[in-house]
Amino acid sequence: MNQNKIRIAVLVSGGGTNLQALIDAQKSEILKSGELVAVISNKKDAYAVERAKNNGIKDYTVSKTEFGSLKAVEEKITEILEHEKIDFIILAGFMMILSETFTSKYTNRIINVHPSLIPSFCGKGYYGLKVHEAALSYGVKVTGATVHFVNEIPDAGQIIMQKAVEILDTDTPESLQERVMKEAEHIILPLAAEKVAKEMLKRREQ
Ligand code: GRF
Repeated sequence: MNQNKIRIAVLVSGGGTNLQALIDAQKSEILKSGELVAVISNKKDAYAVERAKNNGIKDYTVSKTEFGSLKAVEEKITEILEHEKIDFIILAGFMMILSETFTSKYTNRIINVHPSLIPSFCGKGYYGLKVHEAALSYGVKVTGATVHFVNEIPDAGQIIMQKAVEILDTDTPESLQERVMKEAEHIILPLAAEKVAKEMLKRREQ
């Protein structure tokens, strides 16, 4: 256990491309103030769990089907976070809305990556492909990704970092999602994670 690094848990639900970006950033030392200690998935078959296993990161699955309710899932996740002595939580394609009970325990210690330039196309019901469908149907010429702190209101916490991506006339929701992930999410999530972890480390050493 590396004493002087911020201990990070990554919460996932899907393919884990954002988790992979964090893993790669740890290898290339873009992410160096924090250590990826655990991956927690709320979906048994999430490929993100494979990515954790392939990179020697402890993985846990806490699914609603097994635990029965959101409350029970959050309680189990909290137990894991305490067991692993986690300082900092990163939501990377995590598709569950966390309750105020949970988020208020970790004020300014949870960040999320959202695939639009908040405050556009965000909040309840805007996730995954739906975000890009909304951007295309509105006809915006620029979209992008946002990393923000998480509170009890979906996608409403303080913005940490954003990156813009131009929309092409030929774009479909799928092609736009792919480009926003590659050209924005996968770049700013590791940078934002390092920024927050570094500030936490500085505060701890004061
Ligand atoms: C993507 O739609 C991404 O925009 C959002 O979560 C979804 C899956 O991401 N943040 P990942 O590949 O599981 O990281």
